Amino acid sequence: MFSDVLETMLKLTGYTPQDAQTLAETYEVTSQWAEELTQAFYDLLFSYPPTAAVFKPGERPAREETLKNWYRRVVSGQIDQEFWLWQWRVGLIHIPRRVPNDFMLGMMSRVQQLFLQKCLEAWPAPRAVEVFLAFKRVTDVVAGLIAEGYMRGHQLAMKELLGFRQELLDRMMDMEVETLVDRLMNLSVASN
Ligand code: HEM
Repeated sequence: MFSDVLETMLKLTGYTPQDAQTLAETYEVTSQWAEELTQAFYDLLFSYPPTAAVFKPGERPAREETLKNWYRRVVSGQIDQEFWLWQWRVGLIHIPRRVPNDFMLGMMSRVQQLFLQKCLEAWPAPRAVEVFLAFKRVTDVVAGLIAEGYMRGHQLAMKELLGFRQELLDRMMDMEVETLVDRLMNLSVASN
């Protein structure tokens, strides 16, 4: 499951080990952005009630450390199997903390935008784009792994809990989804 998703994400984003190399070469500069990026990340999450509600009182310093750790690892260019597997695990860890993928993907977009801005300040445009694209490909693979880890972890837990066979669950899901699509279609017809 994890390996298939990883393989697909690597293939479709166009990630190559050269991206890890580019990140490693620029670590001295990009690692200095950890604090600013982390503050921007959590200022936004804490200023928006649906995402602020995820956190327990007093939890911010620990979460800031988590993000800084993660960011430094990405820009160090130490992108190996263990790193990818960790990203898959983040998806699972997000499940009990009620961090759905719209929260995660929205923030990944922010992180990438901020990183691009910093690259453009640090280097002439061609190098800035090169470093940014290396970061983007890695973090897009990360987003895919977290999102699929979240969704498949959720499905697997549900299947285990209910004791269904996979094929039966798939068929039941398909039927239920058809009903949902019909309901949505009726809604959009009614609102036109
Ligand atoms: C760019 C998007 C995100 C990345 C890369 C990310 C990454 C991580 C990582 C690396 C961990 C630690 C996992 C471990 O212990 O090994 C984590 C945990 C956590 N994340 Fe995220 N995260 C993202 C988005 C979010 C968002 C948007 C929220 C909340 C709105 C969130 C809330 C949490 C919480 C509460 C934990 C702690 C789980 C626990 O230890 O109980 N994350 N995340």
